[in-house]
Amino acid sequence: MKYQKILENEEYKKYLEKICYLEKDRIYCKHDLIHSLDVARICTIMMYEQGKAVSRDIVYASALLHDIGRFKENTENHEALSVDIAKNILPVCGYTNSEISDIVEIISFHRGNYSIKQIDELVMLGKLDLKESFRIADQLSRNCFCCKASSSCKWKEENKSTNIMM
Ligand SMILES: [Fe+2]
Ligand SMILES: [Fe+2]
Repeated sequence: MKYQKILENEEYKKYLEKICYLEKDRIYCKHDLIHSLDVARICTIMMYEQGKAVSRDIVYASALLHDIGRFKENTENHEALSVDIAKNILPVCGYTNSEISDIVEIISFHRGNYSIKQIDELVMLGKLDLKESFRIADQLSRNCFCCKASSSCKWKEENKSTNIMM
C-alpha cells in the first residue's frame, strides 16, 4: 500500500488543502479526496468486471494525483502540472521508475470526453485497458443525475450521467 504514503506526503497535503480552499464555494464538481477515491474505486470495479487484474498501487496513486495540479488557479493544463507533482512525490513514496511511468501515462491522458452512450458500449465490449478505464471512471465519478448545478454546467449534455452506472 504505497499509495497510503502519498496521503501523508507534505507536498501532497499542501496542494490538496489549497484545492479544497479554492473550491470551498464551488457549485460544480470538486477535485477533492472524495473525487479521487471515487475514481480509484470505479476504475477498479470496471477492471474487475472485465476480468482484469489491477495494481492498487497504480490505480490509487493515479487517482490521488491526477487532479492535484488544480491547486494552481486558472491553469489550462492541470494534467501537465499534476504529472510534475507526481514525479516529485512518487519516488519518495517508494514507487519504481516503471510504476511511475505507468502512472504518468494515466494522469497525462485522464481527461475524457465520452458520451454516456459510448461509455455504455465500451463497457459492454469489455476491452478497456487501465488508461481508458481510468478516463471513463473520472467521468462516471460525477453524479450529474442528482447535481443541482447540472443546468449551468459546461459539460455536453450527452456526456452527463443520467443514472448510477458504476
Ligand atoms: Fe482532471
Ligand atoms: Fe478528475
